[in-house]
Amino acid sequence: MSLPKAELHLHIEGTLEPDLAFALAARNGVELPCADTDALREAYRFQDLQSFLDLYYALMTVLRTERDFEDLADAYLARAAAQGVRHAEIFFDPQAHLARGVGMGTVVEGLWRALGGSEERHGVSTRLIMCFLRDESAESAMATLDAAGPYLDRITGVGLDSAEVGHPPRKFREVYEAAAALGLRRVAHAGEEGPPEYITEALDVLGVERVDHGLRCVEDPALVERLVRERVPLTLCPLSNVRLRTVDTLAGHPLPAMLDAGLMCTVNSDDPAYFGGYAGDNFDAVRGALGLGPERLRELARNSFLASFLDDDEALRARYLAEVEAYDFG
Ligand code: HPA
Ligand code: ZN
Repeated sequence: MSLPKAELHLHIEGTLEPDLAFALAARNGVELPCADTDALREAYRFQDLQSFLDLYYALMTVLRTERDFEDLADAYLARAAAQGVRHAEIFFDPQAHLARGVGMGTVVEGLWRALGGSEERHGVSTRLIMCFLRDESAESAMATLDAAGPYLDRITGVGLDSAEVGHPPRKFREVYEAAAALGLRRVAHAGEEGPPEYITEALDVLGVERVDHGLRCVEDPALVERLVRERVPLTLCPLSNVRLRTVDTLAGHPLPAMLDAGLMCTVNSDDPAYFGGYAGDNFDAVRGALGLGPERLRELARNSFLASFLDDDEALRARYLAEVEAYDFG
């Protein structure tokens, strides 16, 4: 669906399509665990978050040079633009690259080569959000924040991703305090596989402004009430939830009930190369499976811009919001 929207939950490494993965593997002389793109697509049957993460980290080893990161981001931006994305706040996972000897400069400069020209080339404004891997240590996260020092003018905020259960937000209190002191915006994955308490902790201990996923808030009515009252945006990813078996079926996704409850929901793609669709595909999917009407879809699009970190360019946000209101569903 080409309804104008902001994408707020998108891991750039999760946009690595099989064709590009094999092309980069050949270019860099990296061997992949699967023989061809068909075998790779076979491997996309996930049991849970960890089974996805295993493949996600294995495949991203093809990313080695600035040009690889540029090609990855440029391909994503072209696809996103074709699906109505007007603004993208893009996660990246530097620790997964630093551990392989790929430097922070290679990653950020490479991504920036695509992001810097994105408004002109694709009509998509962008921001970059650096994620910490929560299954790595707090010390490693702090070292990663230090390594990002020379590139902070290109990084809008920090996030928290990877295996959730057993790695509560409070583990990263100090690194989030340091990030806040540097003027970085804060988000975190919480309540995807982890319990509702992780959502509360992300808000109270890490000071996050948005919660990524946040789906399991529905298990705690008092938490829902708080999220509604404080207008905390949730970056939901419906197709991801189905593929990672966070929900049984798309038709059973709680999104309509969450909107009815007054939660500030947004719809995003998470890792589109792995989960079966980009932002517009996720909108199409919830429209089809959940029967959301035009005003609900417009609300989701409006929320995406309101929840974005466009505070530094309110004129641009206002322009996007006007596009949402003017959109004709036909
Ligand atoms: N959840 C947690 N970590 C991730 C994800 C996700 O969906 N995608 C990439 N890293
Ligand atoms: Zn995610």
